[in-house]
Amino acid sequence: MHPQLPSFDAAHSSAIDRRINSLLKHLDPSSSSQSAAAAMDSLSASPTSSFQSNSVFSHVDQAPEDPILGVTVAYNKDPSPVKLNLGVGAYRTEEGKPLILNVVRKAEQILVNDSTRVKEYIPIVGIADFNKLSAKLIFGSDSPAIQESRVTTVQCLSGTGSLRVGAEFLARHYAQRTIYVPVPTWGNHLKIFALGGLAVKTYRYYDPSTRGLHFQGLLEDLGSAEMGSVVLLHACAHNPTGVDPTLEQWEQIRQLIRSKGLLPFFDSAYQGFASGSLDADAQPVRIFVADGGECLVAQSYAKNMGLYGERVGALSIVCKKADVASRVESQLKLVIRPMYSSPPIHGASIVATILKDSEMYHEWTIELKAMADRIISMRQELHEALLAKGTPGDWSHIIKQIGMFTFTGLNKDQVAFMTKEFHIYMTSDGRISMAGLSSRTVPHLADAIDAAVKLAG
Ligand code: LMR
Repeated sequence: MHPQLPSFDAAHSSAIDRRINSLLKHLDPSSSSQSAAAAMDSLSASPTSSFQSNSVFSHVDQAPEDPILGVTVAYNKDPSPVKLNLGVGAYRTEEGKPLILNVVRKAEQILVNDSTRVKEYIPIVGIADFNKLSAKLIFGSDSPAIQESRVTTVQCLSGTGSLRVGAEFLARHYAQRTIYVPVPTWGNHLKIFALGGLAVKTYRYYDPSTRGLHFQGLLEDLGSAEMGSVVLLHACAHNPTGVDPTLEQWEQIRQLIRSKGLLPFFDSAYQGFASGSLDADAQPVRIFVADGGECLVAQSYAKNMGLYGERVGALSIVCKKADVASRVESQLKLVIRPMYSSPPIHGASIVATILKDSEMYHEWTIELKAMADRIISMRQELHEALLAKGTPGDWSHIIKQIGMFTFTGLNKDQVAFMTKEFHIYMTSDGRISMAGLSSRTVPHLADAIDAAVKLAG
């Protein structure tokens, strides 16, 4: 059923094949009596000794760490007092500490004080209020898709879970099971879609020579994509590049996608983080919904509400008709139930509590804007520090790119040098999480970049 089997399946089964073949060889009557005897011995050995010495998992290879989350593993092992983790996209305060928003604490207090709350299973699709409010947040409260009940929204396990449920739904119910993802894209996308049952292809997105959008390449590649293919679009604050199309370019992309009957699948992991405005960051999604066409949207509350480990997100599928949306929802339940049965209560309850109360919502927008503004000021400070040092090269992309990340243009060797000599941790593609920087640590990073560029070439 899945068009592209994940490669580890092949590796896995070949390891099994090797073990079976070796056992068969031992048991082959034409092989030497000595080896046959050895095989018989091993088979008749005491069950206890073989139970103790041979693990049924001894063939399991050591897997590499995740390219993003593994950076934190390496950082945690480093005893240096000056170490700096700019790997994972997680917001830090000026003091370098994780932040729990005040409005989130307030919502949690309300939930704790509510004695009517129980811990029963919630429906497979999650909390109804959370789903409605999430749809309004991304599509706008006046969205025709919501008013006409053409959108189904299901609570999922943050952005990753929403993408995975969407992928599995498409693999089961959408004829053209190919998804085009931008180059580069968040590393997990490739695995999510392949394991979800889609064939993954790519389209040009980033131009290393300008450190900006490869708009022509994007139009050409999507223009030659097979009719009906799915296209992954980062709704805003593209990860890892921090490069987004302008609204005019989005409009051209929309026209191309609609004219080729391609199906847009938005990953919206940073609503509010790019510009500081929830509405402005949702514009690309809204122009696609306004044309009456269909699309999928995966939302995450990890960054914009700081609910990383609570795993709160939603998958919305916008359809052309309400009855279709309702049948789609019934099938999403069949995807979710055997995967994790139903989603957890706590994080989604926090989100719903904040989104339905106008005062708390307002407070959230202020805290969100403060996070976005701090990131923007880190861009300026880093840029100025590199200019002040006279670091060779053009660093203007640091202030042009937006969202959580700067795609520095530093290569693998330069990154390795910065980690070894300066204890600065970042992904090997040169991405740094601006949200992990502070005024205090900018000079250290600027020194490291300067040395990497001058010494490590
Ligand atoms: C990132 O790109 O750093 C974040 O989206 C965290 C993750 O899960 O990779």
